[in-house]
Amino acid sequence: VPLPIVAPSILAADFACLADEVRAIEDTADWVHVDVMDNHFVPNLTIGLPVVQSLRAATRLPFDVHLMIEDPRRWAPGYADAGAYNVTFHAEACDDPVALAKDLRSAGAKAGLAIDRDTPIEPYLDLLPSFDTLLIMTIKAGFGGQRFIPNLLDKVRTARRHVDAGHLELRIEVDGGIALNTIAEAAEAGADAFVAGTAVFGADDPAEAVRRLRSLAQS
Ligand code: DX5
Ligand code: ZN
Repeated sequence: VPLPIVAPSILAADFACLADEVRAIEDTADWVHVDVMDNHFVPNLTIGLPVVQSLRAATRLPFDVHLMIEDPRRWAPGYADAGAYNVTFHAEACDDPVALAKDLRSAGAKAGLAIDRDTPIEPYLDLLPSFDTLLIMTIKAGFGGQRFIPNLLDKVRTARRHVDAGHLELRIEVDGGIALNTIAEAAEAGADAFVAGTAVFGADDPAEAVRRLRSLAQS
């Protein structure tokens, strides 16, 4: 398992000063996680392409874009064009995930597949060679600040066995309720990329929160 990735989610940051919020974690974070919601795939509305385009110039950190939207084939490549490093869309929202992964890779981005709380992982295991990241929700997608659901780590364990057995080069990312008291358990289950919103931007010192999360993910 490679070194862990810590990806603070700006959903928990102050949207009135996003550039400053991202700069605060620039030296300790690996990726910036950007939650895009459309009020259709999930019952919440956040930010979209214009914000990613503007924020792109404010930091050197790679953007990890998490699309919680319907019709990702229409929108996802635009995020790659806007300079996103990784673009993740939901399995539940796409009838041809492999085709969209190809589109994203040709647009110069990494491709990510997200699996929501109520979706089993097994039907998607054979698709993983087309992807660079597999995002396993540890809550139901839609809102920050929810309670981590430990049972969902069974999907992480299944995915980790499959990835290791097939020698796949794929990050297994967890998202939802990841904090100082849950990250070690997620790492133990086989995750190697960790999204954290509240645990980072809700902390007094976000940069230090990232450091502490990373060290717990490594031990
Ligand atoms: C929720 C988003 C998460 C959210 C996590 O659907 O995908 O990325 O920001 O927030 P926390 O870390 O507070 O659970
Ligand atoms: Zn997310």
